[in-house]
Amino acid sequence: MKAIVQESYGSPHVLHVREVEKPQPAPGEVLIRVQATAVNDYDWSRVSGKPIIYRLMFGLRKPKTPIPGMELSGVVEACGEGVTCFQPGDRVLGDTSDHKFGTFAEYFAVNAKALRPLPDGVSFEQAAATPHASLLAYQGLCQVAHLKTGQKLLINGAGGGVGAFALGYARSLNCEVTGVDSRTKLDRMREWGFDSLLAYEECDFTRQGREYDVVIDARSTRLPWSYLRSLRPGGCYVTVGGDLLKLLLLVILNPFLKLLTKKRLRILALKANEGLEEVLKLADEGALSCPIDGPFPLEEASRAIERFGKSQHVGKIVVRVSSP
Ligand SMILES: NC(=O)c1ccc[n+]([C@@H]2O[C@H](COP(=O)([O-])OP(=O)(O)OC[C@H]3O[C@@H](n4cnc5c(N)ncnc54)[C@H](OP(=O)(O)O)[C@@H]3O)[C@@H](O)[C@H]2O)c1
Repeated sequence: MKAIVQESYGSPHVLHVREVEKPQPAPGEVLIRVQATAVNDYDWSRVSGKPIIYRLMFGLRKPKTPIPGMELSGVVEACGEGVTCFQPGDRVLGDTSDHKFGTFAEYFAVNAKALRPLPDGVSFEQAAATPHASLLAYQGLCQVAHLKTGQKLLINGAGGGVGAFALGYARSLNCEVTGVDSRTKLDRMREWGFDSLLAYEECDFTRQGREYDVVIDARSTRLPWSYLRSLRPGGCYVTVGGDLLKLLLLVILNPFLKLLTKKRLRILALKANEGLEEVLKLADEGALSCPIDGPFPLEEASRAIERFGKSQHVGKIVVRVSSP
């Protein structure tokens, strides 16, 4: 089968298209004919080998496994011993990061627990874009911040996958949504349906004198207490990622800040695929989707990952593995 293979860390040019052996499903695994996969932070870190701490997970000198990718949509080809929840021909999707990487390939075998049935109303490309970013947004807004109908939400770093899904989920609750991202991306984001947009180079959302019920952040860069200025009493700031030291400080200070202000500052630790059924229900009804950057053919995976590394994308970068 055809796959993208990475033999060392470096620029996206370390990725090559190769013929490799087709995997076989082990007991408990499902073999999938991959239709589409998506580019994530993990892929960029895996290719660049940075931040260095990630090498503890991926391999010290080179990646332990050669094929990147941890999100997929596809069709079940075969089931390993003991798998009863899927059968050949089923459409599936999933975030496989809890089990293994390797979705940049025509076939991928993974534990059945990493997969969910894919409703007919959701395309393979949309499905590949969904598991990771939609659940960062859904778990952050629904399970941590408990976003309610009609509330005011601000999304910082709104131009990526998390921002697009957070907007869609908030819209399904008739919330008023402000998005913040770089000036160069706002034109492309204007059609997504934000009530207002701010360029972070021109406006510090924590200093504009406006307060929100919920702030969700895909790129935390500020000191924790600065977010309190942008929250209403009882409001919640939830970050899904950003500067590691600032996040650590947030964990340490949060109990004190909460006592003093009654505002909540929280960090989301993603639980892979948890809540995906609810998200897929909204997607199947047409209430939730993500703008696709691409799709790129598998042969151009290195270009897709480079695009992510240079942050040139809006929405989710999708790689189409098999022809529709
Ligand atoms: N919590 C968990 O368990 C977990 C697990 C995996 C990943 N993550 C994190 O989840 C996040 C994924 O978000 P995503 O997929 O939506 O990322 P994304 O596609 O990279 O989008 C992030 C957006 O933020 C913008 N941005 C950069 N700096 C900014 C700033 N200072 N202020 C406002 N916007 C800024 C970027 O645009 P420009 O670069 O053009 O400015 C980009 O459009 C990442 O932070 C990742 O590390 C969390």
